[in-house]
Amino acid sequence: MLVFVASDHAGHHLRQSLLAHLSARGVEWIDLGPAAPERCDYPDFAAKVAHRVARGEGVGLLVCGTGVGMSMSANKIPGIRAAVVSDVFSARATKQHNNANVLCLGERVVGTGLAAAIVDAWLDAEFEGGRHAGRVAKLHALETRSERS
Ligand code: RB5
Repeated sequence: MLVFVASDHAGHHLRQSLLAHLSARGVEWIDLGPAAPERCDYPDFAAKVAHRVARGEGVGLLVCGTGVGMSMSANKIPGIRAAVVSDVFSARATKQHNNANVLCLGERVVGTGLAAAIVDAWLDAEFEGGRHAGRVAKLHALETRSERS
């Protein structure tokens, strides 16, 4: 499993903590920045990760102040199922049911210990398929379908 990781300035410190956690777990990762915690715009870094994930190269982990801006941005890219999560139950469920391929966290929302537990739950969970597969297919159909009355 390869994890593409990025943040904005507000997620910089949690990103560093999570990179260390991934290494400790033996998970391979590629850090897409930014290199320093200088002010930057979360859509730029969400896009870097989302395009790699959409190409099927791995999964994504994005951190900003709340995780919300990262998830909104990543979900603009076709093929992305980004979930912003702040609890372990939802982290597991969003893989099992939604097959989330990008996890978003908020440095201003969760501490480093909880964030690591959330990442573990998401990485360790398996997509359950079955009825959920049809729903995920419908979710992606929304990317191209125009509104019908
Ligand atoms: C940056 O101040 C903050 O707006 C950003 O990190 C994020 O929380 C947006 O959703």
